[in-house]
Amino acid sequence: MKVPLTVLRRVQTAAVFSGHLRSLSSGASRPLPLRDQALISGSSRELVQIVGSQVEVRTAFITEEEEGAFLRELEPGLRKKRYEFDHWDDAIHGYRETERVTWGASCEEVLKRVRSVAFPEGSPLLGPVHILDLDKAGYIKPHIDSVKFCGSTIAGLSLLSDSIMRLVKEDATSEWLDLLLPRRSLYILRDQARFNFTHEILKDQDSVFNGQRVPRLRRISVICRNLPG
Ligand code: OGA
Ligand code: MN
Repeated sequence: MKVPLTVLRRVQTAAVFSGHLRSLSSGASRPLPLRDQALISGSSRELVQIVGSQVEVRTAFITEEEEGAFLRELEPGLRKKRYEFDHWDDAIHGYRETERVTWGASCEEVLKRVRSVAFPEGSPLLGPVHILDLDKAGYIKPHIDSVKFCGSTIAGLSLLSDSIMRLVKEDATSEWLDLLLPRRSLYILRDQARFNFTHEILKDQDSVFNGQRVPRLRRISVICRNLPG
């Protein structure tokens, strides 16, 4: 079955913009130590501990050469598309996207590594890998990926730019986590972090992590998902 990319996500309008002030008040969000320490910050230590166990950010997951290999494979196809800016009901603003099933050897090698660290062994995956190219002015609004088409785990590589992913609890918007996603890192969202929290990628002007500006340039993400169990 081919799932249209736009069906993968549903917008949570209630949560839209609920968190934009938080990121600007640096005092309220101290870095809380955990796994890849400085990369996760949140509304409370407890939340970082509980939900943090279902969130991973792995820095330098790919090398510059591997990033180059992805760009060489993806750019020719992406360049033929135009960035979409004005679908008011879209979860994403300023983007173009595609999907890919077959890859050259070095990209396939990386994807094998992603699958082996992110997904339980034997877990059936959504066949095509999803590629999302965000313009420098683009951003992803709060949403939860469709539970009908995607399973418990979402794993994404970030190419070309650092960015901030914000998770906000769907039924308690004062509970949030910010993830700093460095260029060439891998993030993984599992279980609660994937089902009970919206996720979003902040626009450049809101891109502040623990009081520190994180310039958001054009960003390409390479996203793997599993199928519902
Ligand atoms: C999505 C999404 C995150 C990313 O496409 O549903 O949340 O890293 N993407 O681009
Ligand atoms: Mn999503």
